[in-house]
Amino acid sequence: MKVLSVVGARPQFVKLAPVSRALRAAGADHVVVHTGQHYDARMSDVFFDDLAIPAPDVHLGVGSGSHGFQTGRMLVELDPVLEQHNPDWVLVYGDTNTTIAAALAAVKLHLPVAHLEAGLRSWNRQMPEEHNRVLTDHASDLLLAPTALGMANLVREGLADRSVEVGDVMADICLRVRDLVAGTRPAAVRAQVGDGDYVLATLHRPANTDDQGRLRGVIGALQAFEVPVLLAAHPRLVSRAQGAGIELEGGAVRTLPPLAYPDMVAALVGAAAVVTDSGGLQKEAFLLGTPCTTLRTETEWPETLQGGWNVLLPGEPSELGDLALRRPPAERIGHPYGEGHASEAVVQALTSR
Ligand code: UD1
Repeated sequence: MKVLSVVGARPQFVKLAPVSRALRAAGADHVVVHTGQHYDARMSDVFFDDLAIPAPDVHLGVGSGSHGFQTGRMLVELDPVLEQHNPDWVLVYGDTNTTIAAALAAVKLHLPVAHLEAGLRSWNRQMPEEHNRVLTDHASDLLLAPTALGMANLVREGLADRSVEVGDVMADICLRVRDLVAGTRPAAVRAQVGDGDYVLATLHRPANTDDQGRLRGVIGALQAFEVPVLLAAHPRLVSRAQGAGIELEGGAVRTLPPLAYPDMVAALVGAAAVVTDSGGLQKEAFLLGTPCTTLRTETEWPETLQGGWNVLLPGEPSELGDLALRRPPAERIGHPYGEGHASEAVVQALTSR
């Protein structure tokens, strides 16, 4: 079996790691194409190095741009690569512009497409990721749902015969790396707070970064915390804050560069609480047992809301300080994201079809 994975953005490298490992173990021929959507070393290369992913076979070097420009360039560049490799499956991951571009390029060449992390919905049509998810699901031949809820969404949309629930590959990698970094504290965290308490924060969604009033409010609320807030700053946040004349550092907030994956997992384990607008981080916080506050109106991962482990804060960020440091009232129950074996189920689903 020959599988061609197309990845390009940070969360996709994380998902690729366990899938690449499982494909290797099954003796499959695996070609990795990197679109270049993320290109800073801290947003890309470190994930390949730290997670022992073989270097991409093809790098398209597409880079940043408007959604149409970026997606269109990927389409142009992908055509000859897909034709040359002619795989049994084109495997696409998650909900980024890389995902939709690869799915579209493949269906137009009549190559079978499998969508990993299918069926998630935010029901928010303002999010670029929501367009990417829905369109990719309906274009794909095999839909690999990470959760029962994702599977139910696909059934409701008439996609049952193409769908299979496999579990969440992010749980595979998160739980494995948790065990590897147990008992450690990243140097970047130690340099800021020593062995002390801290809140970990990230912010990169356009809804938070591109609205100056909202960004100012959120940064102000973080700066007013009583415990240090370590803000791992995505390049979009840094550039939008600079453009708006907003100082990220100040009060409780100290910035960190984007963290490598093992450092992120260790930083999450050690944090008193997490404040984020990232989908992946909400789920990792849940898996690792750190209370999370999500600065969004909705989540694609509603399983994290159980027991109060994740709370959505769409409104006034002035409430953030009290909310973030709550203790969840109930324990987490069950394993909504699986127990760390989803990548084997993905390989099984690809092989058996
Ligand atoms: C993308 C995904 C988002 C995902 C996020 C993870 C889409 C529509 N969005 O958002 O779903 O949660 O990745 O990080 O695909 N930049 C750099 N260096 C880089 C990459 C980006 O400086 O290596 C800057 C550029 O100014 C760029 C901006 O960040 O314009 C945004 O990057 P882009 O890839 O368009 O989207 P993300 O916000 O990263």
